[in-house]
Amino acid sequence: MEPSTGITDGLKDLKDKIKALLHERKAILLAHNYQRPEVQDIADLCGDSLELSIKASQTDAEVIVFCGVHFMAETASILCPDKKVLLPASDAGCPMADMITAENLRQRKAEISTGKRVVVISYVNTTAEVKAESDICCTSANVIQVANSVDPSHQIFMTPDKNLAQYAIEHTNRNIVYWEGFCPVHNNLTVAQIRETKAAHPEALFLAHPECPPEVLALADEVKSTSGMIAYAGNSERREFIIGTEIGILHPLSKSNPEKSFFPADPGMICSDMKKIGLREILRALENLQPEVKVPKKIREKAKGAVDRMLAIPSE
Ligand code: 13P
Ligand code: SF4
Repeated sequence: MEPSTGITDGLKDLKDKIKALLHERKAILLAHNYQRPEVQDIADLCGDSLELSIKASQTDAEVIVFCGVHFMAETASILCPDKKVLLPASDAGCPMADMITAENLRQRKAEISTGKRVVVISYVNTTAEVKAESDICCTSANVIQVANSVDPSHQIFMTPDKNLAQYAIEHTNRNIVYWEGFCPVHNNLTVAQIRETKAAHPEALFLAHPECPPEVLALADEVKSTSGMIAYAGNSERREFIIGTEIGILHPLSKSNPEKSFFPADPGMICSDMKKIGLREILRALENLQPEVKVPKKIREKAKGAVDRMLAIPSE
């Protein structure tokens, strides 16, 4: 038998306690692809924003432990008002989601309402209040299908990510204006970094997230959501990939493709909010059934329409 150390014993003990409490509380643990490896490894389901929303809408668990950031837990609460949604680190936010308020959205919509009907498409990386002012949501996995679902004679206002919106403009023939928000992690990626990484790995395909700037996306072989990248790399004949998104995704990519190599486009692409949850935070949340995220009824009912309309659109 392998000699055990205090650290591995402690870790096993922590994981066993979490598993026992998940069972006792009739809880499900959902984790985003950027979460810490040990959190992803203990989750019932890991995925991108779209997959996690779908799973939240379908689960019969009584408690959802959401390992991600605040807007994701809010989306789960919007879809499952009768369930307890826990966000183990209450301060795990998304700086991009905080770049537009419901009041900003109302004002901007009024400014652009000059005759044409304005349809607001909000990225799921928004607060529940912003979703409540929106016609439909989208994620990085379905932005093109969502934009194409809008009548071409309407004016689309897309919020908050300027890069995602420009990607949609390039790949649809819809009229789209957008808010100037961005993800600080993806927006910093530069053409020079990509050229340098490509020169170091000339055989590698470059997979980029649509939150990257347009000039970076122009160099990408494929533009994908986080789970889209995992699926693409798994199905591809190629063996080397440069990954243009938050580095937490390197864990599921390497785990499901041990024979392939994944190189970060920039090893500094770290979302500190996505790293706030560890096993101890999960255990504490399950013990105390706190911190809870609950969207107030009035906002929830309006926001649910936008999320439901997105979920009704078949993804690729
Ligand atoms: P995905 O939906 O592609 O996982 O992206 C979520 C996100 O926050 C990207 O920064
Ligand atoms: Fe928000 Fe960017 Fe972090 Fe995703 S990576 S949660 S968009 S700050």
